[in-house]
Amino acid sequence: MKFSTIGTSWITEAFIAAAKKSGAAELHAVYSRTEEKAKTFAEKNGAKQWFSNLEAMLEDKESEFIYIASPNLMHYEHMIMCIENEKHVFCEKPMVLNESQWKHVQETAKKKGVFVFEGFRHLFSPNYMKLKDHLPQLGQVRSVMLQYVQYSSKYDAFKDGKEPNVFSKEFAGGALMDLGVYPLSMALDLFGEPEDINYSPVLLSNGVDGSGTLVLTYNDFIVTILCSKVAQGTIPSEIHGEDGALRMDHVAPIEQLSFYDRKTKETTELAEKQEQLDMIYEAQAFVKMVKEQNHQKYEAFLERSRWVAKWTAKARQQHDLLFPGE
Ligand SMILES: NC(=O)c1ccc[n+]([C@@H]2O[C@H](COP(=O)([O-])OP(=O)(O)OC[C@H]3O[C@@H](n4cnc5c(N)ncnc54)[C@H](OP(=O)(O)O)[C@@H]3O)[C@@H](O)[C@H]2O)c1
Repeated sequence: MKFSTIGTSWITEAFIAAAKKSGAAELHAVYSRTEEKAKTFAEKNGAKQWFSNLEAMLEDKESEFIYIASPNLMHYEHMIMCIENEKHVFCEKPMVLNESQWKHVQETAKKKGVFVFEGFRHLFSPNYMKLKDHLPQLGQVRSVMLQYVQYSSKYDAFKDGKEPNVFSKEFAGGALMDLGVYPLSMALDLFGEPEDINYSPVLLSNGVDGSGTLVLTYNDFIVTILCSKVAQGTIPSEIHGEDGALRMDHVAPIEQLSFYDRKTKETTELAEKQEQLDMIYEAQAFVKMVKEQNHQKYEAFLERSRWVAKWTAKARQQHDLLFPGE
């Protein structure tokens, strides 16, 4: 499939490289707000065309889908524009901010006959599939601890008095929206919707959450999620069951995965070597879904996105972590 891009940071370059390496999609055009940047980015990444007018790029008939990696707050507006122009959409996480945005996106996409997809690279990797396959070996799950605690390269700028988008409420930034969505989407994917959620954020001077702890209450177990952009963690994540434990070195990507059997006291290594560029797997899954017109998969992916939007919004509302327009 041919695609065009919105956003010119490293993550868009990573997606272009992943799409190329996977053989699933070919870059057609790029968009930037500035003409010079669009041209340079196009030349660097091998795009045939560049645009500084988004409408013009979306009117171009050649591209079949748009990859969106704009700041979180702009995803909704950009998605609706793409859908109205009958483009399929691959949008970076978090796709939307709340359920009402999700509903409008879902309805508009249905009306226009296009697919929309949230880029959760960690949920399409071979090692994550292995984790899912081995989950029943744990027996009854009783506790889960998932973490994404990573000092942001942009935190130093914040400490110097600047406000990078990812540390700005104006652009729907913060630890939960940037990193917490990885473990949260994993928990929702593995266990479905919880009964309740509780978020304890550590707020920075501008009111954005620099880090936080999410607690998801299920009927017979608890999921605890640590996320931070202002500290560095090293501990692995684990799922604890009555019959054993599954341990992963990280949630995105999982490079080491093991199962500990409580009865035999043996540990089995489960991970395989994955592509370093793990966006390859989500790019392949997206293109396959669209080409096969697989509505069953589509509905399942989209429902997971609704849950992420619903539960992040609930967690944020507990602390008035509201974004423009909410
Ligand atoms: N899946 C992953 O592993 C992963 C990793 C990193 C980020 N992401 C996601 O990718 C998205 C982009 O993240 P990022 O850190 O690259 O964001 P960013 O650097 O703040 O912005 C991304 C792009 O949006 C445009 N932009 C920046 N500020 C803007 C503004 N004020 N108004 C309109 N456009 C603006 C810029 O492109 P132009 O100047 O060229 O217009 C920029 O290249 C986020 O949703 C993030 O969650 C995903």
